[in-house]
Amino acid sequence: MKKLYIETYGCQMNFADSEVVASVLVSHSYIPVAYADEADLILINTCSISDNAEKRVLARTRELQSLKKRNGNLKIGIIGCMAERMQQELFEKLEGVDLLAGPDSYRNLPQLLAQLDAEERVSDVLLSTSETYEDIDPLRFQSNYISAFVSIMRGCNNFCSYCVVPYTRGRERSRPVESILKETLDLQEKGYKEVTFLGQNVNSYDYSDSEGKQWRFPDLLGHIAKQIPSMRVRYATSHPKDISEELIEVMAAQDNICNSLHLPLQSGSTVVLDKMNRKYTREDYLKKVEMIKSKIPDIAISTDVIAGFCGETEEDHKLTLSAMKEVDYYYAFMFKYSERPGTLAAKKFDDDVPDEVKGRRLQEIIELQQNMSLEHNKRDLGKTFEVLIEGYSKKSELQLFGRTPQNKVVVFDKGNAKPSETVKVIIEDCTAATLMGRLV
Ligand code: 5AD
Ligand code: SF4
Repeated sequence: MKKLYIETYGCQMNFADSEVVASVLVSHSYIPVAYADEADLILINTCSISDNAEKRVLARTRELQSLKKRNGNLKIGIIGCMAERMQQELFEKLEGVDLLAGPDSYRNLPQLLAQLDAEERVSDVLLSTSETYEDIDPLRFQSNYISAFVSIMRGCNNFCSYCVVPYTRGRERSRPVESILKETLDLQEKGYKEVTFLGQNVNSYDYSDSEGKQWRFPDLLGHIAKQIPSMRVRYATSHPKDISEELIEVMAAQDNICNSLHLPLQSGSTVVLDKMNRKYTREDYLKKVEMIKSKIPDIAISTDVIAGFCGETEEDHKLTLSAMKEVDYYYAFMFKYSERPGTLAAKKFDDDVPDEVKGRRLQEIIELQQNMSLEHNKRDLGKTFEVLIEGYSKKSELQLFGRTPQNKVVVFDKGNAKPSETVKVIIEDCTAATLMGRLV
C-alpha cells in the first residue's frame, strides 16, 4: 500500500473532485493519510480563480518539495485548474513536480503514476466533453459523515469575460440522473443528513434518460428531494440569468430543500455586467430577487462580488454597494478583480483600475457586508430554527454547532443533543458571523 496525501484549494467542486481522486487511487492500492510528511504521493488540487490563489499554491508546493530530501520516492502532482491552465509552465516553475492532471483526467491517474516508473515527468490535461465520473463512488476521506457534496454537472459554457473556468474545466455536461440518485440514496443509507448538489452552473443541468425524458435542474432537484425527505438538500451555484420561477416553486414546495440561495451578483452596474458578459442587468437581477423573496419569504441569499473590474467607475462601484443593500445578503464572497490570461476580458479590456482603488473598493464592500450580516443575524433574535448539528464548537466541548436551513452557523450548549441530530434552537445572541442560541 502506498500513502496518498491530498491538499485541496478553491471551490466546493474541487473538494468533491478530491474525493473522486481518492476513490480512483484507493482502488489502485493507495491509502489516504492526514499528513504530507507521511506520504508517498502528494496531490495538490488547485484553483486558478485569481493570481493570488495561484501564488498560494506555488508557494505551498515549493514548501512540500523539500519533503523529497527525506523521502527519495516521494512523488508530487499538481491537479485541477492550475494544471489545466498552466500545463508545462508548471514544470518549469516547480522543479519537484512529477505529474500534472487536469480536471477531466482523474481516471487516468493510475496509468500516469505507472508511467512515472519509466518517465521523469508525466502529464494529462486533455479536457473531455462527456466525463462526469458518474460511476465513481467518491471516497469521503475528510467527511463529517453528516453533510456531503454530490457533483451533478461539470464545466461551464457561460464565458463570463473575467473567468478562467470555461478554459480550465471545459464544456458543460450533465451527470445521469440515475447515478446522482444512487449516490444520494447511498449517502442516506450511510447516515448522512444533508446533500449539496454541485455544478459550476447547476441551472444548465440537462439530461435525457434512456426513455427519452428530459431532465432540467428543477426536475432533478424536486425528484431527488422527494426521494429523500429525511435529508436536507442544498445546491450551488446558480446563474442569475437562468434562475426560474419553476425552480423557486420547487424549492418552496419541498420542505427539505433548504431556504438558502447562492446567487452571484458580481456587480450592481448594468454597464459593468455587460462588459462581464453576465447577460443580465441590475434590474433583471433585482427583479429575480423580488420574485424569489415573494415565494420564499424566509430565504437567505448569499453572493459573489468583484471589486475593480475593467473600466469600473466610482459610480459603478456605488451601484454595487446599493444593489447589495437592496438584496440584503446574509453572506458574500468578495474579490478584487484579477486579470486571468486567455479570458475575454484580458483580450478586450484594460485592467485599468489601480490596485489601491480596487483595494479600497473591496474594503468598502467588505465593511458593508459585515454590517449587513450583523443586521441580518439580529433579525433572527428570538426566532426558533431547525438546526442540523455538525459537530462540537471550536471553543468548547460543552457546545455544539450546526446550521439553520438558511445556512447560518448556530452555536449552543449541548444539553443531551448530539452531532447529526436536527434540533430546535432559539436564537438569543449573535455576531456578524455566528448565531448563539439555546436548545428548545
Ligand atoms: N477576478 C476576481 N474574482 C473572480 N471570480 C472569478 N473570476 C475572477 C477574477 N478573474 C470570482 C467570481 C466568481 C467566484 C467564484 O470568483 O465572483 O463568482
Ligand atoms: Fe477555482 Fe474556478 Fe477551478 Fe473552482 S472551478 S477551482 S473556483 S478556478
